[in-house]
Parts: sequence; C-alpha cells; structure tokens
Amino acid sequence: MRPYVFINSAMSADGKISSSLRRQVRISGSEDLLRVDRLRAESDAVMVGVGTIISDDPKLRVKSDSLRSWRLERGMPENPLRIVADSMARTPIDAEVLGPGCVIAVSRSAPAERINTLSKRCEIAVIGEDRVDLRELLEMLYQRGVRRLMVEGGGILNWSLIEQGLVDEICVFVGPMVIGGRDAPTLVDGRGFAEKFQRLELVSTERIDDGLLIKWRVVRSA
Ligand SMILES: NC(=O)c1ccc[n+]([C@@H]2O[C@H](COP(=O)([O-])OP(=O)(O)OC[C@H]3O[C@@H](n4cnc5c(N)ncnc54)[C@H](OP(=O)(O)O)[C@@H]3O)[C@@H](O)[C@H]2O)c1
Repeated sequence: MRPYVFINSAMSADGKISSSLRRQVRISGSEDLLRVDRLRAESDAVMVGVGTIISDDPKLRVKSDSLRSWRLERGMPENPLRIVADSMARTPIDAEVLGPGCVIAVSRSAPAERINTLSKRCEIAVIGEDRVDLRELLEMLYQRGVRRLMVEGGGILNWSLIEQGLVDEICVFVGPMVIGGRDAPTLVDGRGFAEKFQRLELVSTERIDDGLLIKWRVVRSA
C-alpha cells in the first residue's frame, strides 16, 4: 500500500521549472502561492529531491498561520512531514528543510559520517542500495499514516516517480513567461520515455493570476 501521490509544480509557458542556472524562478502569482500553501496544509507529507534542496533551500512548511491552526484543530501536526530523497546524504547541514518533522531518505551507499551529521538535525531512513527505493519509501510512509503525499519536484524526482507508476495526479500552474534554455529543468526530466508514453486524463483547468492551473489524472495502463 502507498499514499495517494500528486505532483504539484509551476512551469513557464515553455515547460521549464527553473532557469538553466538552476536558480529558483518565481513563476506563480500570489493567488497560486496561496493555493500551494493550502495543498501543503491538506497533505500528510511533502517530498522533494535533494537537487531542489541544494538549488532552492525550501522550508517546505505551511506558511499561513490560519492553515497551521486549522491543522492543529484537527489533531494534525502543525506542518506535514518533510521528506527528501537523497541517496548520498548530500543535504547541507544548514538546510532550511531540516528540524523536527523532517525525514531524509538515503541509500545504503550514503557515507556514514554524512548520515551521522544529518541525524543530529532530522530523522534518517535508509532505503535502497545505491539509490533511494521510492516504492519502498512510499510503503514506509503509508505505514506511518501518510495517506496524501504532495511532491514538489524537481524534474528528476518527478521522472523517477512517474516512470515507476507511483503518481496519481499532476497539478501544474503554467505561468505567463518563457524561460528557455536547453539545459533548464523541465517538469519531468530524467531519461524520458522512448515509447509507451505515460497517458494523462484532463481533470480540470482554471485561470489563476495570469496563468493557467491544469490538473491531470495519471492513466494506469491495463
Ligand atoms: N517550479 C517548480 O515548481 C519547482 C519545484 C521544485 C524544483 N524546481 C527546480 O528544479 C530544479 C531541481 O530539480 P532537479 O531535477 O535538479 O532535482 P530534484 O528532482 O529535486 O532532485 C533530484 C535528485 O534526487 C535524488 N534522488 C534520490 N533518490 C532518487 C530516485 N529514486 N529517483 C530520482 N532522484 C532521486 C538524486 O540525487 P542522488 O542521486 O544524490 O540521490 C537526484 O539527483 C531546481 O532548479 C529547482 O529550482 C522547480
């Protein structure tokens, strides 16, 4: 068993999620940022790849006081669990994501001294040989009570999850800008499909700020 997994991302009109310098680009407008905060508040856990931690140093916590109170009133922790897929334990020791409620998932190949250092600031889960085994990680999260997992990128983690059939929904805000650049990260990077492309079913579209919010359901092949 695994949680319901949805990817939420913001991309430019040309499908990029940041610039070729891999620096964070503000693609969402203010209304979309509120929507993302609500999605976080409604999730049991939020997950990113270590690439996003190194590039953006996100906090991955619920920003709004009222949404944090809303969670507390329902007997939930103030913030969803924060999960980082980080096979070699490369998360910097001063990363904003660290602290109580953070789980760094590493592989058995991660250097022991890195694990030791990080374990002073968060929980460590060792899952997979050379790379974090995402299927096993999701099963572990399910056993811990995570039913709704929000994935906030980046492109490499999104690819691995989609390739392994571990995503149920993709939600993308398409912002009114062109970023360009062959090397700029896209919504889904990695190796990509050569054939048997992943099919999606359109659920809804909505105009937000000056962009478009698109929701797709991931179609399971028979
Ligand atoms: N616009 C948006 O909504 C948005 C959201 C997030 C990020 N971003 C942008 O995306 C960029 C970062 O994306 P990214 O693609 O470079 O990094 P990423 O997807 O955040 O992280 C990828 C890393 O995760 C680790 N990982 C561990 N287990 C894995 C597994 N089973 N499968 C895949 N990866 C695994 C790998 O490093 P190890 O091999 O060392 O484990 C891999 O290199 C940044 O430029 C950031 O600004 C944009």
